[in-house]
Amino acid sequence: MKSLVLTELKTPLQLEERPDLEPGDGEVVVQLKAAALNRRDYWITQGLYPGIEPPVTLGSDGAGVISKIGSGVEGISNGDEVLINPGWNWGEDESAQASRFQILGVPRDGTFATEVLVPADAVHARPRHLNWHEAAALPLAGVTAFRAVFSQGQLQAGENVLVTGIGGGVATFALQFAKAAGATVFVTSSSATKIERACELGATAGFDYTDDGWAKRLQKEHGPMNLIIDSAGGDGYAGLIDVAAPGGRIVNYGATAGPPKKFDLMKVFWKQLRVLGSTMGSPRDFAAMLEFVQSKQLRPVLDKSFPLEQGNEALARMRDCEQFGKIVLEI
Ligand SMILES: NC(=O)c1ccc[n+]([C@@H]2O[C@H](COP(=O)([O-])OP(=O)(O)OC[C@H]3O[C@@H](n4cnc5c(N)ncnc54)[C@H](OP(=O)(O)O)[C@@H]3O)[C@@H](O)[C@H]2O)c1
Repeated sequence: MKSLVLTELKTPLQLEERPDLEPGDGEVVVQLKAAALNRRDYWITQGLYPGIEPPVTLGSDGAGVISKIGSGVEGISNGDEVLINPGWNWGEDESAQASRFQILGVPRDGTFATEVLVPADAVHARPRHLNWHEAAALPLAGVTAFRAVFSQGQLQAGENVLVTGIGGGVATFALQFAKAAGATVFVTSSSATKIERACELGATAGFDYTDDGWAKRLQKEHGPMNLIIDSAGGDGYAGLIDVAAPGGRIVNYGATAGPPKKFDLMKVFWKQLRVLGSTMGSPRDFAAMLEFVQSKQLRPVLDKSFPLEQGNEALARMRDCEQFGKIVLEI
C-alpha cells in the first residue's frame, strides 16, 4: 500500500510504500477512493496537537470500498461502499466525549493512503447521492457542524444564524445545514469572493470580519443573531457577543485565531447568553447527520482535489486559507 506519512514535525509528508493491512478482530480494511483534509491535519504537521508520534499517516476523512473483513464482523461484505466516522470511543454520555475518545489519523494511521484499518462500527454506507469526493468530504466536518448547529446550538426554523469564516470546511456545512433547517443565515469572511459563493449557497448577506465595525453593520441591517457558529475566537470574538440576540447562543468548535483578547462578561450575563463548546460528535450525532444529509439531498461543497502524491500542496492550500469548502485527495 501507499501512505503519505509525517516522518518528522514541520517537514513535508513522505509518500511511502508500506505492507498491506490485515484486519484484527472487529476490524475492516477500506480500500480508499478519496480522502479529505481538515485543519487538524495541518495543526498536526506543525506539532500543534496532543499525542503525535511520528511516523504516522495523517487523514481523518475517507471513503472507499471494504476489501478485507476481520473475525467477528457481521453485516459487512467485501465490496461494500462506505464512508468512515473518524470519531471513536465517544462513550455513553451524549453531552461530552469520554477521555478515551480518539480521532482517526493520529494516533492511529489515517486516510492519506491507499487503504486504512478501522473498527467495523466506524463504517457507514456511502449516501447514494454523493460521489466519492463528496462522501470523503463529509464525515469530520459534517458531524462537527451538525453537533454545533443542532445538538449544541438547538437551532429552530426562522432564527437568524451567523456562521463565521465561511471559507472553512466545517463552516460551509454549518451554512448548508442551517439553511436546510429553515434558518436565515449570515456569514463572515475575509474574502468578498467567498461571501459571494456563500450567498449562492443561500446565505442572506456576508460581512468582512477584517473591517472594523462589521458587527455593528450586521446588527443594524439585519437585527441580532439568535445562534452564532464560530471556530475562530481571537479578536473578533467581542463582535460576536455584540451581535448575539438577548437569550442567544454562541457555539465554538475551534480557536483558529487563538483565545479572545476581550470577553465581556457583563454583556454575556446581561444578555442571558449561552456560550457553548462543541467537538465533533457522538455516534448518534453522526447517524443523525447522515440521515439529515440524505433527507435534504445535501452535497458537500468541494474546493479543489489533488492526487495523493500532491498531499503537501493540498496542506499548503489549507495553511493559507485559500479554500472554500473541502480540499480532497484523489486516491
Ligand atoms: N472541535 C472539533 O471537533 C473541530 C472539528 C473540526 C474543526 N475544528 C477546528 O475548527 C477550525 C476550522 O476547521 P476547518 O477544518 O473547518 O478549517 P479550514 O477549512 O481550514 O477553515 C479555515 C477558515 O477559517 C477562517 N478563519 C481564519 N481566521 C479567521 C478569523 N480570524 N476569523 C474568522 N474566520 C477565520 C477562514 O475563513 P475565510 O477564508 O472565509 O476568511 C478560513 O478559510 C480549526 O481551528 C479546527 O481545528 C474543530
